[in-house]
Amino acid sequence: MAKLGVNIDHVATLRQARGGSEPDPISAALVCEKAGCDSIVAHLREDRRHINDSDVAKLKNIIKTRFNLEMSVNSGVVKAAMEIKPHQATLVPERREELTTEGGLDVLSNMRKISEVIAKLESCSIEVSLFIDPEEKQIEASKKAGAKTIEIHTGKYADAKGPDEATRELSAISNAVKAGRRLGITVNAGHGLNYKNVKAVAAIGEIEELNIGHSIISHSVFAGLENAVKEMLALVR
Ligand code: PXP
Repeated sequence: MAKLGVNIDHVATLRQARGGSEPDPISAALVCEKAGCDSIVAHLREDRRHINDSDVAKLKNIIKTRFNLEMSVNSGVVKAAMEIKPHQATLVPERREELTTEGGLDVLSNMRKISEVIAKLESCSIEVSLFIDPEEKQIEASKKAGAKTIEIHTGKYADAKGPDEATRELSAISNAVKAGRRLGITVNAGHGLNYKNVKAVAAIGEIEELNIGHSIISHSVFAGLENAVKEMLALVR
């Protein structure tokens, strides 16, 4: 049975729309935990467009589950992570102009830098996961770089135009999960998952955790955050 990590970035996005203190992402994290999620995910972006340094420091101290910090390999962010010491860091590619994380990390082409960052974070007892596309070459490169955990990018499946493309992308995810497990790597998945498309991914099996943000926070406007998380948990499980 897959676990559920809830990404609370978009609670902070709403707060930043007015530059004040509401809604508070820390309170949101506590509601998600009350609803039964297994971890809290937040992305400390280089431009601090939603989650900020104060949020991550508070999250680390307050949450009772696990804190999974999404981050780039930027040296300033790595330094911040080494001070905060989340339970897990998920390394993601980051471009300032993107609306959200667009593709997976190119571990193959950035092996040296990524290995260095993994070693630095692990020296602070932070578990490291690499966010990659469902491609065998990136999975093998992740293993070579020293990653014990990967997160498979499910965005292409989520954005598929029509059932044939969705089936193809789902099969790529399933193959990637199997390839990762064969190499002894823990495999998570996420991006673009929602109440309609999550069941097929959860049914793949051998996925440790699904990380979901935008659809849960969007649904919470209508259902309330606790119900939105509970409904997603029921589908994932
Ligand atoms: N996993 C990773 C690595 C991400 O970067 C994101 C987006 O921040 C998610 C999962 C969640 O994606 P979504 O908000 O589309 O559910």
